[in-house]
Amino acid sequence: MKNFYKKMLENNKKWVAESLEKDPLFFERLANGQQPPLLWIGCSDSRVPANEIIGAMPGEVFVHRNIANMVIHSDMSMLSVLDYAVNVLKVKHIIVCGHYGCGGVKAALGNQQIGLIDNWIRHIKDVYRFHSTELNLITDETKRFDRFVEVNVQEQVLDLAKTSIIQTAWRNEQELEIHGWVYDVKDGIVKDLEITFENNNRLPDVYQLDLD
Ligand code: CO
Repeated sequence: MKNFYKKMLENNKKWVAESLEKDPLFFERLANGQQPPLLWIGCSDSRVPANEIIGAMPGEVFVHRNIANMVIHSDMSMLSVLDYAVNVLKVKHIIVCGHYGCGGVKAALGNQQIGLIDNWIRHIKDVYRFHSTELNLITDETKRFDRFVEVNVQEQVLDLAKTSIIQTAWRNEQELEIHGWVYDVKDGIVKDLEITFENNNRLPDVYQLDLD
């Protein structure tokens, strides 16, 4: 335990030295500010690190992570990250990245009471309800779980598109695409769900905000 803690600090020193060896101005440049083109909304799962799996460097990805990569409209932390990313950093892409084998999605499939987190998981259960016709038809449990992960990402992409923050950016003709991905922890490969939004035209009428 103690060794692991010490090792982390040693690793940091090593990483600094290696980074400077490759690029003596690495930290100097980063200290000048950030202009990441991408906002990543992912799961807190330790196996799905945002930067590593897309080969991104420090300064390239603005990140928000929570259990099961949820976009919940009353979540001040998510909204603040989104507002800053869209309105200050002017990111060009937002990726919601779920992953197969997600513990949060798995918990939503079951009925076990866990604790406070039940109230977070409940939002994922809503996704099941919206897609229950399709999901209930899948008899293979693993396949149903995998598909649940995918439709959960799909709903979070939709939830992003519903926000006033995103719709205002589109109204102002800001270049901004929202994508849905699923990462496979078994082989490291990302599946693009190809549900990209770049305007609010495909949002059901009731969600389209009249911003003029
Ligand atoms: Co997860």
